[in-house]
Amino acid sequence: MNPLLKGKHIVLGISGGIAVYKAVELLRRLSDQEAQVAVIMTRNAQRFVAPLTFQALTPYGVYTDLFDAYRPGAMDHIQVAGWADLIVLAPATANSIAKAAHGLADDLLSTVLLACPAPKLFCPAMNVRMFENSILQANLQILRENKSHVLDPSSGLLACGQEGAGRLPETELIIEEILRLLSPQDLAGEEVLVTAGCTREGIDPVRFISNPSTGKMGFSLAQVARRRGAKVTLITGPTPLEPGPGISIIRVTSALEMEKEVLRLFPKATIVIKSAAVSDFRPKEYIPQKVKKKDATLQLTLVQNPDILRELGQKKKKQFLVGFAAETRDLLENASQKIKEKNLDMIVANPIGKPDAGFGWDTNQVLFLFPDGKTESLPVMPKEDIAGLIFDNILNRKKKKPGKL
Ligand code: CTP
Repeated sequence: MNPLLKGKHIVLGISGGIAVYKAVELLRRLSDQEAQVAVIMTRNAQRFVAPLTFQALTPYGVYTDLFDAYRPGAMDHIQVAGWADLIVLAPATANSIAKAAHGLADDLLSTVLLACPAPKLFCPAMNVRMFENSILQANLQILRENKSHVLDPSSGLLACGQEGAGRLPETELIIEEILRLLSPQDLAGEEVLVTAGCTREGIDPVRFISNPSTGKMGFSLAQVARRRGAKVTLITGPTPLEPGPGISIIRVTSALEMEKEVLRLFPKATIVIKSAAVSDFRPKEYIPQKVKKKDATLQLTLVQNPDILRELGQKKKKQFLVGFAAETRDLLENASQKIKEKNLDMIVANPIGKPDAGFGWDTNQVLFLFPDGKTESLPVMPKEDIAGLIFDNILNRKKKKPGKL
């Protein structure tokens, strides 16, 4: 359950296009996250999917007519407009976009859109020629200029058989945009650099030294920072994870490659979080041909990789620098030592080997430590929530030393 959605009043406006069936999944996902969703369907939307389907998925009402208010317990259009924390129009047809852009109010949905002061998200879905039509594009521009948000449709094969932009984006992407619109934009203006995942140190073309880090913590940090308005670059070691929209990603393999990219981007960054589990050692020699079993000596000579975080600590100027410490014992002592030795502004320490925490899990159990000796110990919680608390602490600490930035 996402705390940004829990208890939020969302009006899901549905206008009539083939993508109406996808709004069912969107409603279900929002309801799963405990958002309170009231649905408004246009007359044409009801020709694609019956209101009953939506009624089964939300107790907050499915409204289909301006005069629904006369039903006992129902809200009228002005009440719905005042109740909403956010209106999402998915799918938004060319007609509903045109009406909203020009202030027409001839049915319940268009009337609520006009009366509602909450943020509005339009998710256009239509035939590619209709979407590319300059009149439609001009209408979208009017909406953007009037503080509405537009989520561009995705491209692909459309229901009409043509190819191009016009598909309703995946539910995941719509929800991510909703989360962004519901987030405080308190990281606006920050350039956040995050490292994630493991590194791989090649022995030969088929073998490497690595560790079990999957990158989930770093990807969560990047996503939360982007939602809160930061410009985000994520440098990650090998992982199947894909970043959310709006995150610039650089994929690397070895510690040396990660070092090169981090040092290149460090001068522009204002907040740097090194959550990557960098391999401390690499084989002294990389063997370009696969080592045959019979030829192997079973002796591998290793050399130390550079400690990237330590280098950043030495170069640091305006940056707020956060490190991680993965420890199997003496968590506090080891983390305190790392914060001093690496000149960090904060360290996130986590014990390795506990259930529900660490490599590969969606949850973690961490301790925050600061250079002044203050600590904050957190219970097991989702990595996304930990990411949020890391940024809350960074912002608090940055505020305390305004002269330094
Ligand atoms: N780190 C790094 N470069 C390395 C090793 C670690 O930048 N070559 C960073 C990690 O990204 C993390 C922090 O340093 O933010 C601590 O990493 P950790 O593996 O816990 O500790 P080490 O410094 O490597 O020390 P040790 O292995 O002795 O615990």
